[in-house]
Amino acid sequence: MTAPESPQKSILVADDDAAVRELLTLLLEDRGYSVLPCENGAEALQRFETEQIDLALLDVMMPNLTGFEVCESVKSDPATRLVPVVLITGLSQAEDRIRGIECGADDFLSKPVNKEELLARVKSLLRLKHFTDELEHAESVLCSLALSIEAKDPYTEGHCERLSKYSVALAGRLGLPEEDRVALRRGGIVHDIGKVAVPEHILLKPGPLTAEERGVIEQHPAVGERVCSPLKSFRHVLPIIRHHHERQDGSGYPDGLQGRSIPLTARILQTVDVYDALTTDRPYRKALRTDGAFEVMRNEIRRGWWDRELVDEFEAVVREMPQEVRK
Ligand SMILES: [Fe+2]
Repeated sequence: MTAPESPQKSILVADDDAAVRELLTLLLEDRGYSVLPCENGAEALQRFETEQIDLALLDVMMPNLTGFEVCESVKSDPATRLVPVVLITGLSQAEDRIRGIECGADDFLSKPVNKEELLARVKSLLRLKHFTDELEHAESVLCSLALSIEAKDPYTEGHCERLSKYSVALAGRLGLPEEDRVALRRGGIVHDIGKVAVPEHILLKPGPLTAEERGVIEQHPAVGERVCSPLKSFRHVLPIIRHHHERQDGSGYPDGLQGRSIPLTARILQTVDVYDALTTDRPYRKALRTDGAFEVMRNEIRRGWWDRELVDEFEAVVREMPQEVRK
């Protein structure tokens, strides 16, 4: 499958050398790209704040901010981190390339720039960007759907975002790899996405549920897993979605897994989920304070429900948070 080539792609070209800037601009405009020429690094960075940019060609040695600094800034901002950056350098030492890689550069071109090489790189990076945009779009549709399900219940407002934040903090404390933290950030938002299949009269029922209604609710982890499974980038999120209602003694659902056979990331999200539910107002009770919530969780550990070690670690995370950011 080839990505459709759009003539409207916009490319930022930053070089303090007017001749190089003009040459690159002419070359790219000739191929139908829209070019944003910048004279220095600071101007380039400013353009990133105001314009939709699909790719950036940055000279390394520029006044104000170097290409390295601009690249680092672009790559550390979630709004622009997926924009491909090519560093154009007259330097050939390996350490400059290493510095560029450390700054997150996607590719390098050496001066004097070879026309064919430049156009080939631009084309391939824009194609990659097209696919990344599609992927981002699919992810954001799933996240919006999950948040709109959450919004149906006024008592759970902000729950998903807090879950993301808390579970990433707990994963950080446990020293889990970046891959798990990313999965937890996404899992916090989408773990209950399967509730899309639960009718509202059951989802929002204030009184106790019948066995049949409970059966419908208990399908939400498997439904959620199915909804998210086509997205490859969500593969580490799927175990979180499927297993966030398992219990240590095997009395949870959907698979009745026990102890450590419940994936660690699912146990993390579950620990945080239970705490957040307890510290939020419900129709039938007021929110518990931190002490009260952990007391309830410890009783439930004794009943065989939660992972004691994780609850201990999470309590330490919560106690380290300033009071005002706990909710
Ligand atoms: Fe759930």
